[in-house]
Amino acid sequence: MEVRIEPFFDPATSTFSYVVNAKGYRECAIVDSVLGFELRALRVSTEAADKIASYIREHDLLVQWHLETHVHADHLSGADYLKQELGGQIGIGSGIVEVQRVFREIFDFGSEFEPNGSDFDHLFECGEKFNVGPLVVTVMHVPGHTPADVAFLFGESVAFVGDTIFMPDVGSARCDFPGGSAENLYKSTRRILKLGEETRLFLCHDYPPDGREPICMTNVRHQRHANIHVRDGINLATFKDMRNRRDQSLSLPGLFFPSIQVNLRAGKLPVQNSRGRRFMQFPIDSI
Ligand SMILES: [Fe+2]
Repeated sequence: MEVRIEPFFDPATSTFSYVVNAKGYRECAIVDSVLGFELRALRVSTEAADKIASYIREHDLLVQWHLETHVHADHLSGADYLKQELGGQIGIGSGIVEVQRVFREIFDFGSEFEPNGSDFDHLFECGEKFNVGPLVVTVMHVPGHTPADVAFLFGESVAFVGDTIFMPDVGSARCDFPGGSAENLYKSTRRILKLGEETRLFLCHDYPPDGREPICMTNVRHQRHANIHVRDGINLATFKDMRNRRDQSLSLPGLFFPSIQVNLRAGKLPVQNSRGRRFMQFPIDSI
């Protein structure tokens, strides 16, 4: 069965989103969609998400799932917006409750925010299987970047790996957000690299060095041979040392606080007050 994958690139956040379906079938999934947010103007933009919606309508597809590989910390999720536009259910790994618990403290959310994942339609367990049309999708828990990261394996030859592995010349995702773990990320990447050598890996981001164009896909064989952080032969201690030192040099993404507070709630924007206005929170000196 041929898997059709349409990538969408958001240059503002270097994020790849995808529409996936089986050729000849209307049912599809949207993976890691983006809602634009301009920090200086404090304005939301639906431009990136609308491109996906146009593609879905143009091809007369039926959205079954909005799949989130994790709670993104560098862009707002378009899942809630696209669900309102196109229907479908929003799903994320069940580890989301742990991420919600951590950030409820950091944001000082009150009792109105229960860390139970109820803003999502479904929480996936590791190993769970579900369908997108005739395609069977298997959920792999791949923690490290966050405790809740999952990869979605469509059939046996296509995987959406979120923020775990990046292109071979970029390496791997950071692990220094609350709940992150370089050791767990190393173990997760080794599990991904045990998939069949020709398995195509679709990435959530690319940060191309030296002016090359962004690329959304690589495969297991190429990663095992050439990934600068996790190719075959690099052991856990070496990876942890590299990852921890590198993470110490990174600053928080510009959209960190807006992204987290929206994405913890499946991409729902803050509730409007009685005057129809929405507000975000920026906790000072909290991380
Ligand atoms: Fe991420």
